[in-house]
Amino acid sequence: MQTAQSTQVKSFTLANNQISRWHRFNSQDEINQATVRHILQAADEAIDRYGSFLIVLAGGSTPKSVYQLLAKEHADWANWHVYHNDDRCLSVDHDERNSKMAREAWLNHVPIPADQIHDIPAELGNIAGAKAYAKTLEGVRTFDLVILGLGEDGHTASLFPHHAVDNSADAVAVFDSPKPPAHRVTISQARLNDTHGVIFLVTGAGKQHAVNDWLNGVAIPATLIAPACGIDVYCFGVEVSQ
Ligand code: 6PG
Repeated sequence: MQTAQSTQVKSFTLANNQISRWHRFNSQDEINQATVRHILQAADEAIDRYGSFLIVLAGGSTPKSVYQLLAKEHADWANWHVYHNDDRCLSVDHDERNSKMAREAWLNHVPIPADQIHDIPAELGNIAGAKAYAKTLEGVRTFDLVILGLGEDGHTASLFPHHAVDNSADAVAVFDSPKPPAHRVTISQARLNDTHGVIFLVTGAGKQHAVNDWLNGVAIPATLIAPACGIDVYCFGVEVSQ
C-alpha cells in the first residue's frame, strides 16, 4: 500500500512475531488523508477480487475524523460490509457507543445498504451481545481490513492487559474492562487476525508509553494482532524508535 506523504516507514518484528510497518506522519491532516486513501484502495482491491469489501471499524475517539472524511468520499458503497471490532454495553443511543459514533460521523451519510452495516448488539449485555454477534460473523469470509486503536495501557479492541485471551467464539464477552464501561463485547483475537490487512491508528503523546513498550518487545495486547500480512501502524505525535 502506498503512503506517499508519510515521512518515514520502519519495519520491525515485535513480540508474538508480529510483523509491523510503522508510518510516521507530520500532522493530523496527513495521517487522516493517508488512512482514507489506504481504506479506499483496500476497498477497490477487495471489490475487484471478491465483489465485496469487509471492513472492521475501531471505536474510541481517534478514528472519528477519518470517518468524517470518508462521509465525503465517493466509493462503491453498495459493496461495503461494515463490522465493529468492539462495543460498550450501553444503550444504542448512548454517546459512548462505538456504533453511534461511526454512524453519525460516516455511515449515516453514505449509501451502504442497511443490512450490510453490522453493529454489535452490545445493548443486550455482554454475554447475549457476544452470542448474537458471533452468529452474525458465522460464515463471513476473511476480513479485508481491520482498523484498530491503541489504548494508553496497550489494549486494542477490547483485548486488555492481564485478561485471559478468549478465543472460544468469534465474538466474546468482556468483564472488568479497565476502560469504562466494564462490560463490553469484542471480536476475538483469533477472528481479528483472520484478515487481509490491519491499520492501527495511534495519535498523541498519551500513547507514547504503550508505543515504547510495544517497540521494546513487550507483549502488550496490541501484539495479539499478528496476521501473516503484517500490520501497518499509522502514527502522529509519538516517537518511533527502538
Ligand atoms: C474502545 C476501543 C478501544 C480504542 C482504544 C483507543 O471502544 O474503547 O475500541 O480499543 O480503540 O482505547 O481509544 P482512543 O482512540 O479513544 O484513544
